[in-house]
Amino acid sequence: MTSSDITSLRSSSTGLIIRQKEPVNLEMPFDQVDSYLTPTELFYIRSHFPAPKIDVTDYQLRINGAVRSPLKLSYNELREMRSETRIATLECAGNGRVFLVPQVRGAQWELGAVGNAEWTGVPLRALLERAGLEDDACEVVLEGADCGIPAEEPKPPGPISYARSVPREKAVQPEVLIAYQMNGRDLSRDHGYPVRAIVPGHYGMASVKWLTRIQAVRQPFQGYWQTSDYAYWDSLDGRPVRRPLSEMNPKSTIARPSVYETLLPNRMYTVFGAAWAGETVVTEVAVSTDGGQTWAEAQFLDPARRYAWRRWKIDWPTPKHLGHYTLLARAKDANGTVQPDEHDWNYGSYVIAHLLPIEVMVADLARPD
Ligand code: MTE
Repeated sequence: MTSSDITSLRSSSTGLIIRQKEPVNLEMPFDQVDSYLTPTELFYIRSHFPAPKIDVTDYQLRINGAVRSPLKLSYNELREMRSETRIATLECAGNGRVFLVPQVRGAQWELGAVGNAEWTGVPLRALLERAGLEDDACEVVLEGADCGIPAEEPKPPGPISYARSVPREKAVQPEVLIAYQMNGRDLSRDHGYPVRAIVPGHYGMASVKWLTRIQAVRQPFQGYWQTSDYAYWDSLDGRPVRRPLSEMNPKSTIARPSVYETLLPNRMYTVFGAAWAGETVVTEVAVSTDGGQTWAEAQFLDPARRYAWRRWKIDWPTPKHLGHYTLLARAKDANGTVQPDEHDWNYGSYVIAHLLPIEVMVADLARPD
């Protein structure tokens, strides 16, 4: 076998970084981002329990609770329904956690627990219409087939399945999909085979994988992943209250250069990254190469499309002076919201949407020190 044969046998993907071996938690090396759609092989995997093995011949999706006609659908019945294909960015609410000071518990995600993919499936609202959603249903609980005891305190008294609710107003929007394909291929097991929810605009925790039950409820769901985990401190009548995380905050991330990369002085370097927002679009990305003293507007490579990221770039003539430089990227969305300078600790170890510094070295590699 020649070396070119070996090269052609390798997949185009560069591989993922292990954050946890079992359950599988892997992130994309964010400096590898290139294409608008993230190849499935490079898409991060975030799982709380081992991926269940589901045989599609036995698979059933139950739709019940506050509905007039509870129903069960087989995999084939779901696939026979009218489908839609949509592009959506998923970001784990803990993405960027490694940047928090002081360090916090949880998987130490760098920048790559995010990806942009094309999803195909049946709109959730078509299923809710078929089941006859009751007028007084306020949320829709999505439940996966995976189950276990969560790693973090406070632990429930026994094993629980992964479940999250979506507010009714969101659940009936056309973009929320009960998906069975990702990037034109059936879902892989780690990404939720055979069926998962995709809740565009919300942090990834809402997009329940290995989906087996859709339950409409009349009271706000108080499950573990809604209250103990994936929740934040809000304020009500001057008192702190817990609320479930939902919509993604606007965020821009620098993919290249990467942290502590060494760049040559006095050259043109193209700084590259991606930006996304929750229910709206990112309208502006500003980049600083001097730690936030001055800013210049980046150029978008993709159109403004709700729920999908926009890649951007900006040319930077690297300084003649050798040394450390801090790069920042700041997104602004169509509502005028800009990324804050500092992390909001009401979100604890989630929603890491402040400016993330990328420190680089400008050094003349040809010259010995
Ligand atoms: N669904 C189930 N059933 N179990 C899970 O652990 N993790 C959630 C969500 N859906 C999870 C799940 C979280 S926290 C994220 S960020 C996304 O799935 C990640 O989706 P991915 O692994 O396809 O990237």
